[in-house]
Parts: sequence; C-alpha cells; structure tokens
Amino acid sequence: MAFDWLEARLSERAQQGYLRKRVCQQYEKDNIICIDGEHYLNFASNDYLGMRQHEGVLQSWVEGLAQFGGGSGASPLVTGHTQAHLALEAYIADGLNRESALLFNSGFAANQALCMALFSGAHNQDACNQTPSAAAGIKHSGEIFADRLMHASFLEGAMATKAKLRRFRHNDLAHLSNLLEKVDTTNNSDKLVVTEGVFSMDGDSAPLRDMAGIAKQHNAWLMVDDAHGMGVLGENGLGSIEAQALSQSDVPIVMGTFGKAVGTAGAFIAGSQALIDYLVNYAKHYVYSTAMPPAQAVATLYSLTHIAADSSRTDALNDNVAYFRERFGAQIGNDQNGDLILANSSSAIQPIIVGSPERALALSDALKARGIWIPAIRYPTVPKGEDRLRITLSATHTQQDIDVLVDAIALAMESIA
Ligand SMILES: Cc1ncc(COP(=O)(O)O)c(C=O)c1O
Repeated sequence: MAFDWLEARLSERAQQGYLRKRVCQQYEKDNIICIDGEHYLNFASNDYLGMRQHEGVLQSWVEGLAQFGGGSGASPLVTGHTQAHLALEAYIADGLNRESALLFNSGFAANQALCMALFSGAHNQDACNQTPSAAAGIKHSGEIFADRLMHASFLEGAMATKAKLRRFRHNDLAHLSNLLEKVDTTNNSDKLVVTEGVFSMDGDSAPLRDMAGIAKQHNAWLMVDDAHGMGVLGENGLGSIEAQALSQSDVPIVMGTFGKAVGTAGAFIAGSQALIDYLVNYAKHYVYSTAMPPAQAVATLYSLTHIAADSSRTDALNDNVAYFRERFGAQIGNDQNGDLILANSSSAIQPIIVGSPERALALSDALKARGIWIPAIRYPTVPKGEDRLRITLSATHTQQDIDVLVDAIALAMESIA
C-alpha cells in the first residue's frame, strides 16, 4: 500500500525518544504562556527584545492593514511588490551598506531559494527549464563549505542542489582553510562559505572577520545567516554584519530574519545589485510565492527603526544575560564531569547540554512541573548526544523571573539526578 511506512517511522522515532509533538498555546502576555489551561514562565521564545507585543509594532501593523489590506494579493513580479516592501528593502540595504536587498516570506524560504538559485546549474537554468534532459546533463555546480552547526533550512537547501556540500568543524578556521585548500585548484567552480552570525542552538558567534579573509583568499564568497543576530547586535540592531563593520566584499551574502528579535516574520537577503537582480529572476521561492503582506513590512520597518532609535531593550537583554550567567554560576556552576554544562554564550540563547534525549525531556518536564516552559531540543535539531535545554532570555524578563528560573533549574536537576 502506498506510504504504509509512515506509522513505522513514527514509532521508530518514539522508541528513540525523538518523537515531536506540538503544543497549542492559548495566549502569552508578559512572558507568561498559557498551555492546556496551565500558566508557565516562558524561557523558550526568540522574541529577544519583546518587540512582538510592542505597541508601536502593533499600531503600525494596523496602519499597514488600513493602507494595503490584509495580504499582498499576488507574487512580487505580478502586483504583490509594494512601496511598503520597497521601503523595508531600502532601509536594510542602506543600513548594511549593501547595494540591494530582497524580502522573503521566511528565513527558511530565503535559504532554500538562495541555494537553489545559485547552485542548480545556474548558468544553464534556462536550459533546465526547457528540457529535463538538459537538467539531467548538469552534474556538478559549485562547492559549499558550511559550518557543521549550520541551520537545517540552509543545509536541506544545499543538499537539494548539484553543489558539493562540505562541512567544517564548528567555528574551526583551520579546518575550513584545509577543506578549501583541498579543492582541486584546476576546478574553477563557484565556492560559497556559509555560517551563522549567532548560532541558533548554541548562542555563540562565528569569527566572521577572519572567515571573510579566508574566503577571499580562496576566491570564495562568504554568506552569513544572521537570524539570531538581527535586532540584538550592532548600533542600529542590524546584526553581526553591522556590529563587525563587514563590507559587501567581506560578506557578499547576508541573510537575516524578522521572526525573532524584530518581532514580526519574514526575511531578507542583501548583497550586490547583480545578486539581487539575479534572485528576482531565478529565486523560485520569491518568484512563485505571494509576496509578504505589506502590513507586515510596515510593522517590520517600524520595529527596526525603533530598535535603532532606542537601545533600552538591547541593554536590558544584555543585563539579563549577564545576571542569568552570574546567578547560574553562583548557584549551580558547571559540572566538571561534562554531565551538565551551561554553554559558553554571551547571547540571549543559553543552552544547557545534557547529552541524551531522555535527560533533556526529564529536565524539561521537571521544569514544567515548577512552572517554567523550556522544551527539550533533541536530535536531529542538534547533533546526536548534544540534546539540550535551550533557554532563551528576553529584555522583558525581570531579575525576579531569572531568580525563579535558576532556583527551578537547581531543583529540577536534583530531581532527575
Ligand atoms: C539560523 C536560522 N536560519 C534560518 C531560520 C529560518 O527562519 P524562519 O523562521 O524565518 O523561517 C531560523 C529559524 O528557525 C534560524 O534559526
């Protein structure tokens, strides 16, 4: 029977402790999340600055609705591209010192679109569109060098192309150089080095400037997925690229998302005019998808300009990160046996790596029993054996919230020891 293996795969996942289930949130306000009628203090949101509920963001979204309606009504190349999209793209390009920027409906779509557009036999793409045999004739199109911890939205996209995908050890520049050197120098194919600005599951940062130097040395382009740097880093909140003053020639492709610290949804790719014009023509997730609702672009632009004008939320977030790490260190400390480790992160993402899906689930459940919401993050979202609790802090948490969190972690750890 067709697809009769679905249930078998699910029970296999369940047996391994990796089965995923959704929970339905009833509402959330001031970091209190209501699930199944119970209230929890939420330490699992990517809304690092609390912009999702910011009055100005809500108000500008409403104004956008009044001006442009509920949706964009069409794909961007038909009639879906509006002044609201253009203004947001211009703001991003200008702020990042890039020639141009392009909006996507999600970071997932942006990463997939980019991989497919650049590495699916790009120069032969028109031929591919015409005949399947022409497409089949294209064997190999470029080399991608991705950090081992690169997000699934990029890796899945890369694996679906004709490029050769190589993974370098996390933040290991020597390994990256080594892989680049090994590439056949007679092969003149396009090379892309790709990393995250702030790593989504670990919270640490990539050594971008050195990486940019290595990429240039090997005639490769560097791409940075800055989903978790956007909003929280840089003088105007434009992320790791702004914070480290990296030029378009240092980082020819910047991807950023709005669904995390910026508090709305969607994403962008910024780079040269040629890159963006090329994507407008060949990025299928852009060409064949209804454009982002213009009201969302209005609210996103409001959020970005507010973040640029007022650093109080970023300051509050940084204070909370420092306070949490100090409290955790004083009360719990790091386990010398490698059993339980608070990862070395100065970002809003503060993982406790517990090493097995069972322990991660048990710790998450023990915290839930104490009114704290932090779901377990398990393989394959993170490498096998690195299952964890991914604590995320927000500017809107109070020190008292953090005290409650650290006390609860200490008790939860005792209860699962
Ligand atoms: C590093 C990284 N890249 C891309 C994405 C995808 O972004 P979006 O949620 O907008 O699809 C995410 C979010 O999950 C992410 O963490």
